[in-house]
Amino acid sequence: MITEERISTFISSFDTGNTSFLNELEEFAIKTNVPVIRPQMQNLLKLLLAMKQPERILEVGTAIGFSALLMSEYGAPDCKITTIEKYEKRIPLARENFKKAGKEDQILLLEGDAADILKKLEPPFDFIFMDAAKGQYIHFLPDILSLMPKGGILVSDNVLQDGDVMESRFAVTRRDRTIHSRMRDYLYELKQNKQLCTDILPVGDGVTISVKL
Ligand SMILES: C[S@@+](CC[C@H](N)C(=O)[O-])C[C@H]1O[C@@H](n2cnc3c(N)ncnc32)[C@H](O)[C@@H]1O
Repeated sequence: MITEERISTFISSFDTGNTSFLNELEEFAIKTNVPVIRPQMQNLLKLLLAMKQPERILEVGTAIGFSALLMSEYGAPDCKITTIEKYEKRIPLARENFKKAGKEDQILLLEGDAADILKKLEPPFDFIFMDAAKGQYIHFLPDILSLMPKGGILVSDNVLQDGDVMESRFAVTRRDRTIHSRMRDYLYELKQNKQLCTDILPVGDGVTISVKL
């Protein structure tokens, strides 16, 4: 978390919470070390969904289905969600969770690498949530852009990497330098690309919200 803890605690004291199914799933994810979106990001997604009321949502990075289920719960009741996951161990769990929640008809899970799947999808998706491997965001962007209509929204999570992205590349471990420079390239591209209007927010681990112009 990159905002001051006291502020975050104060803000989250107003949270109204999620459904009990989502609460249980979040608890399970935390216990089993599955990364899922944090409460600050959950709140922001709920707000954006209430504003945009998207009809077709695309998510890159399903994990075990927590954020897809949150979007199905708090988006328009008839919206369709397509979500992509490549990690075989998480796919059956996600499917099971969609079934348990009675959302199999609303959420389509595509198995495989988003790098391949994004190229084959039928546009438009008026809301895209990017929450996969951070180093790949920059490579996904051209395909993502071609899937978005004018006015479409792209939300990208974890873009400030717990603040690491602000550090000099020499201050991050050699292992993380590629991700560090790719994320900086991604932020630069989101801000400079003439097709997009983007803001970078210090929410959770950092999030960008972009609108296609
Ligand atoms: C942070 S987790 C997603 C969490 C999920 N959005 C939630 O909040 O419930 C990121 C997921 O993206 C998946 N992933 C990473 N790179 C991917 C790729 N290239 N194609 C498909 N899935 C990918 C990982 O296996 C992981 O399960």
